[in-house]
Amino acid sequence: MTRAVDVVVIGSGVAGLSTALGLAATRDVLLLSAGDGSTPWAQGGVSAAYGEDDPLDHWRDTDIAGAEFCDPRNVRALVEEGPQRVAELIAHGARFDRNADGSLSRTLEGGHSRPRIVHAGGDATGAEVHRALRIALQRTGVRTMSGRTVGLVQSDSGSIVGVLVQTDGHVTQIDARAVVLATGGIGNAYLASTNPSAVRGDGIALALRAGASLVDMEFVQFHPTALHTGETSGQLPLVTEAVRGEGAVLLDAHGNRIMDGLHPRADLAPRDVVARAIEATMRRDGTDHVWLDATGVAPDVIRRRFPTVLASCARIDVDMVSEQIPVAPAEHFLCGGVRTDRNGATDVPGLYAVGEVAATGVHGANRLASNSLLEGLVFGRRVATALTLDLPAVDHGRTHEVSPGEDREPERIRSILTRYAGIRRDGASLNAAADELDALGNGPLATVARSVIVAATARQDSRGCHWRSDHPHSDKRWDDHIVVHLDAEDRPTTRHLQRSEV
Ligand code: SIN
Repeated sequence: MTRAVDVVVIGSGVAGLSTALGLAATRDVLLLSAGDGSTPWAQGGVSAAYGEDDPLDHWRDTDIAGAEFCDPRNVRALVEEGPQRVAELIAHGARFDRNADGSLSRTLEGGHSRPRIVHAGGDATGAEVHRALRIALQRTGVRTMSGRTVGLVQSDSGSIVGVLVQTDGHVTQIDARAVVLATGGIGNAYLASTNPSAVRGDGIALALRAGASLVDMEFVQFHPTALHTGETSGQLPLVTEAVRGEGAVLLDAHGNRIMDGLHPRADLAPRDVVARAIEATMRRDGTDHVWLDATGVAPDVIRRRFPTVLASCARIDVDMVSEQIPVAPAEHFLCGGVRTDRNGATDVPGLYAVGEVAATGVHGANRLASNSLLEGLVFGRRVATALTLDLPAVDHGRTHEVSPGEDREPERIRSILTRYAGIRRDGASLNAAADELDALGNGPLATVARSVIVAATARQDSRGCHWRSDHPHSDKRWDDHIVVHLDAEDRPTTRHLQRSEV
């Protein structure tokens, strides 16, 4: 069966919903979803510099956290357009937390020079943003469909002209003038992640197969404080950075402050710095977790601000008001992704990407806390504006299907990536990972894992969340971006891209 629309948006997290909402009045849109992605799980909030705060300070914090590897113009779009997008969200009915005088409550997280993070339900911001966007979209009458996108339809001249969706065992072709990937990151390509299990890089594998290139895939961010539940695989509950923003501190097994003397912002250093310090502490002490001590935070603040974290801790019999919380880093966010321009266009005509799946350069080598919901709001609107102004030309040529197929041994792929491309990497272990992956075919997860491995192998320096113990310093000679594309045998391979070419 074949249907036709103007635009298919794949993914119903904040980026997909924002894109579909922005297009609802002008285009025939279909929103495809295979789950709600990571948005409902986001805790901390949305960064927005307004009032006495200056978007330029937000710009600077973003660039510093990103190891000065950010795209300056795109960060400017992010910080300048952000407050307006938050205001629209409020107009759509999002209920952010407010102070007694009615002003928005704003908190601090790692890497921010001032409190600028608006939040909802204490630590349930993602769920509230998601709720408000979903209801706003329902009001527009945009059609939605559940199902897994198993392939793209590509004209023989290279344009993407449709998608293949699997529902109840049937595959439906939907023709479209534009396809927008809003499929999130690669969380489940690792054994343990803060992302739900459906988030595993499917959009990245599809884009590569269609001929798009990826960039900055070596910059995989690990959240310093996932709750240590004892599980080593699957989605782990997050302990938001905002807990540290309210005064909690990280302690080693002997009760010593981990971040003392390591960074001027101590426990509120950018998250790559904190995650590395925790990893080094665990390695030194031979432990699989450290402790987050929030017992100095007033109990009423904990109950009001962190109901989600409180409940997650209670599930492992920890009372965070009076007891220390066991935490360890876990995969959290992909800073790179499908290479796009500022309006979401990839290298492939008709194919767009937005949100975590996309690499616009706003995160540089390490994303600043609470810039991800913001990215979805801002760039979702930008893609919608671009596709409202112009749709790609109709391509009536012959077509073929593009599909990354299935993986033979997904658990093995996850363990390889976890073991060799975690917080700490080196050339020898990355080579070992490449050898082990060689036997595991070209399915989507294998393609994603290889993309991370080849990019991490190619970048022979350390910056942001890419830490090579054999090249521990940032080196100006490595100021290029690493681009990943498929070779003639469908294997990810790399080339360098000068920053001025981005
Ligand atoms: C957090 O609340 O710590 C996570 C928010 C984010 O990833 O920006």
